[in-house]
Amino acid sequence: MIGVFDSGLGGLSVLAAVSRALPHSDLLYLADTAHVPYGEKSDAYIRERVLRIGQYLAGQGCQQIVVACNTATAAAVAALRDALPHIRVVGIEPGIKPAVAASKSGRIAVLTTESTARSERLSRLIHQHAGPVRVDVVPCPGWATRVETLKLDDPGFAGAAARLLEPVLAAGADQVVLGCTHYAFLAPVLEPIVEGRARLVDVADAVARQCLRLAGDAANRHGRLTLLATAHPERLQLALAVLNLGQLAARLTGPASSVDV
Ligand code: DGL
Repeated sequence: MIGVFDSGLGGLSVLAAVSRALPHSDLLYLADTAHVPYGEKSDAYIRERVLRIGQYLAGQGCQQIVVACNTATAAAVAALRDALPHIRVVGIEPGIKPAVAASKSGRIAVLTTESTARSERLSRLIHQHAGPVRVDVVPCPGWATRVETLKLDDPGFAGAAARLLEPVLAAGADQVVLGCTHYAFLAPVLEPIVEGRARLVDVADAVARQCLRLAGDAANRHGRLTLLATAHPERLQLALAVLNLGQLAARLTGPASSVDV
């Protein structure tokens, strides 16, 4: 079985890609909705949550764990790998590399949580891949929480997002990296803002390809999906309909349920 987790609903964007790449794997998704958002928490807090969830998923029989959260990957993927050396751990990091490769203007922007924005891992990633391309890191406080409410068409939010992005777009950024898995669900709001000037960059499919490479026997099971949440499982269930994730709904073994981790 492959375990996939996030602070909340954002990781469903990665789960959808994993589900497409691995149609016959058994998947277990855990949304840590009792502790969302991670992006405003300390590294120590995030690490504790990641280790607990990792142990839980391993205990449920997951041989592979996908950290479907940039914030958790930046703060704790190394600790998780140390704690669970027998588990294949796949993390997610903002797509700096593909954005740099695609940029013609020599300037890109990366949208992240506050925690990822200040992380050493992001600085290292930029240092490794940016070369001469200028990278503007744009922290987006409150955006993950916006997705959690499932109220994505609020015109007030579209205005606030446009104001946040305008300076980097005006400065010439032609690639806008979605550096938080929640932000994939904001693409319908962000597309019209960047249209004609920049492209949104999401790496969920690249993560799914990495999962497929590592899956081994886990690729050939029953194709079932189980959804768990540490709070509000009904909202996780509702998210499948609101976020157009019918392909995930089709794999479900039963309704999303609550878990105490
Ligand atoms: N979805 C998460 C990420 O990719 C974090 C959102 C949050 O909990 O702040 O960074």
